[in-house]
Amino acid sequence: MRKIRAILFCIFAALSFIHAQNTPISIIPKPLKLNTVAGNFIITSKTIIYIGVPEAQPIADLLASRLKMDGTSVSIQDINKAKTDRNVIFFLKTDDKALGTEGYQLSVTGQQINIRANTERGMFYAVQSLMQLLPPDIYSASKIGKKGGWKVPCVEIEDNPRYVHRGLMLDAGRHFFSVSFVKKFIDLLAVHKMNTFHWHLTEDQGWRIEIKKYPKLTQIGSIRKETLVGHYSEQPQKFDGTPYGGFYTQEDIKDVVAYAKARYIDVIPEIEMPGHATAAIASYPELGCDSTKKYEVGTKWGVQKDVFCPSEKTFSFLEDVLTEVIALFPYKYIHIGGDECPKDAWKASAFCQNLIKEKGLKDEHELQSYFIQRIEKFVNSKGRSIIGWDEILEGGLAPNATVMSWRGISGGIAAAKENHNVIMSPGSHCYLDYYQADPATEPLAIGSFLTLEKAYSYDPTPTELTEEQAKYILGVQGNIWTEYISTGDYFEYMAFPRGIALAEVAWSNKVGRDYNEFTKRLIAHSKRLDYLKVNYAKRFLDVKMELKAEGSTPSVFLTSLIPNADIRYTTNGLDPKANSTLYTKPFSINSITTVSSAVFQNGTMISKPVRQTFYGSSALGRPYTFAIKPSNTYESGAMGLTNGVRGITKNYAQWVGFNGNDMEVIFDFNEPRAFSNVCLQFLNRPESYIFLPDYAIVSVSTDGKEWTDINRSDFAHLRDLNKTFIKEAKLPFSDYTKPKRFLKIFAKNVGKVPDGHAAAGKAAWLFADEILID
Ligand code: ACM
Repeated sequence: MRKIRAILFCIFAALSFIHAQNTPISIIPKPLKLNTVAGNFIITSKTIIYIGVPEAQPIADLLASRLKMDGTSVSIQDINKAKTDRNVIFFLKTDDKALGTEGYQLSVTGQQINIRANTERGMFYAVQSLMQLLPPDIYSASKIGKKGGWKVPCVEIEDNPRYVHRGLMLDAGRHFFSVSFVKKFIDLLAVHKMNTFHWHLTEDQGWRIEIKKYPKLTQIGSIRKETLVGHYSEQPQKFDGTPYGGFYTQEDIKDVVAYAKARYIDVIPEIEMPGHATAAIASYPELGCDSTKKYEVGTKWGVQKDVFCPSEKTFSFLEDVLTEVIALFPYKYIHIGGDECPKDAWKASAFCQNLIKEKGLKDEHELQSYFIQRIEKFVNSKGRSIIGWDEILEGGLAPNATVMSWRGISGGIAAAKENHNVIMSPGSHCYLDYYQADPATEPLAIGSFLTLEKAYSYDPTPTELTEEQAKYILGVQGNIWTEYISTGDYFEYMAFPRGIALAEVAWSNKVGRDYNEFTKRLIAHSKRLDYLKVNYAKRFLDVKMELKAEGSTPSVFLTSLIPNADIRYTTNGLDPKANSTLYTKPFSINSITTVSSAVFQNGTMISKPVRQTFYGSSALGRPYTFAIKPSNTYESGAMGLTNGVRGITKNYAQWVGFNGNDMEVIFDFNEPRAFSNVCLQFLNRPESYIFLPDYAIVSVSTDGKEWTDINRSDFAHLRDLNKTFIKEAKLPFSDYTKPKRFLKIFAKNVGKVPDGHAAAGKAAWLFADEILID
């Protein structure tokens, strides 16, 4: 045994001197260090797995069961009985500080595979990487033909994750997903070395976890009488008239938790409070603030005003619920929600107003903080910790809480600065329920826009934090909210591959991260996803169409991630065909032009056709500056306002957004010129607190200092608290002809969400896009 260890050490040490060479290895997430070496190891039925510790047995079993798919039957033996060091796979437990609790080393030579880790978890991740070194049919769900063993390229890997929290969330509240689907999802987390499954179990529209002490939670609260059809913003709203329900029994939960544990995944249950609680209140109306009201399980999306009343009855109910939840989930964290809790019911309640006085609280925000702190105390008393969405910062953060930052990153930054742990999950990069391609070509989604490339570009550690504060950033999580996701197939389509990009963001080193290189691995990895029967989206393979101002005239650039792709396009509004124009170089446009394109191979279209209307004007591709910068979540790139593409109502891909601030955009045309017209457009989308501005003014200047107002357009009277629409406004230069060098557009944000809206008083968004200047 000692001798084998010595040989292993020498081989491992020697490998680092062997020059790396190119083999198509495509491990996702990308390992920290990977050196490829000439040669292969062939796993056959003669291969023996030697385990150094009994705890490695289930992990070795897992590998052996996969290898069996082609009839290869390896034996697993105790390393102390080892008779040979050839044609063997070693599972060795080490005590190597550098590997931490999740890291591993994986070394493959012509004679041996060595897996070294301090923990079983590390060994499990080594096996995940090893499987990705094997042909993709190692993931096959059914037996495959005999192939004479499994070929593994020789390689030396040393790997360790960047963050300790790597997760995805499944919202089982809006739609229910079966235990077997949940297990498949957990399998996919494990394949990508994620370690956390966040299970959103209670919502306005359905309570999904059996609580023995309160049977009505599932008898009443798990069923809604009908469901909204189409998008929330469509008027008039329509309903399907069909009851919808489903819940997990406590036995189901135990089954899932055990399944996840075997895959080294923690399950974080989320029990929402004090908001998003309508289903619970419909089951036990005494938990609400209005004893005269008839509460119903929610049937439509959005934020509901019926929230838990902070009464002793509610606290003892929640403590009972959490006691059962804590018994089911043997992990550190219990997520208590805390997001989107309108204060209307508390404002109208004499009980709440008295409580505010009695406790010496300032307002309803402090009442929410009081609520969360009481719950935290209880959860802490059981030896557990709470996580809450970033609203738990409002009114004072509970002393030991971990914050999940979703409304951008500012909540995460504030919490880290207060020395609280943070999980980053900003909508801009982590909300996998957003559209990932043109809504006109996609199934219904919540709105907004998140491409694979943008998800991959995310860096969870904000630059605003010091090194010390940055230590509080535990990691990153993607969320799959399911208002519009009612099937497992569609869930997978939204979750993958964007969730895989986030897995790499969470695991892999930031240095050298390269989207194009990732997509090469992802294209190879997609064969594994095919064997795993994952309905992943392929929209990242669409032709990318961009208008760029390189050279004297802005030109349309078409690119594809598919190697050696034939991109064909039309400008007549029709989908391209095999004989449409072959794209060879960028082409210019000057007025409104619709470009349609797709990738072809041997005369067959192999990507979805994409279409984009580009609007020409003399502002096209022109840079500009802002007096006040837009939100970094909605800036739409350096030339979002002049890229020739107009924003639409269904997503935020193109819009430039200002949160509470006015917009002031300045163009410098470098020399005096005449103007005839400016065309602006603004979005009104009340559900997202986006409203038309009060007014917009166009002015010109010779020096960029003294301005002459040219035209003004008023929008305040057109604002609507219910409807989503775009308002276009043309501001002609009717009787002003003097050439000027500078042009400025000022738009006055309404400032606060207007009265009459559920979020009245919160900062309002001003969304502008595509400024056309002639
Ligand atoms: C959330 O998206 N309301 C956390």
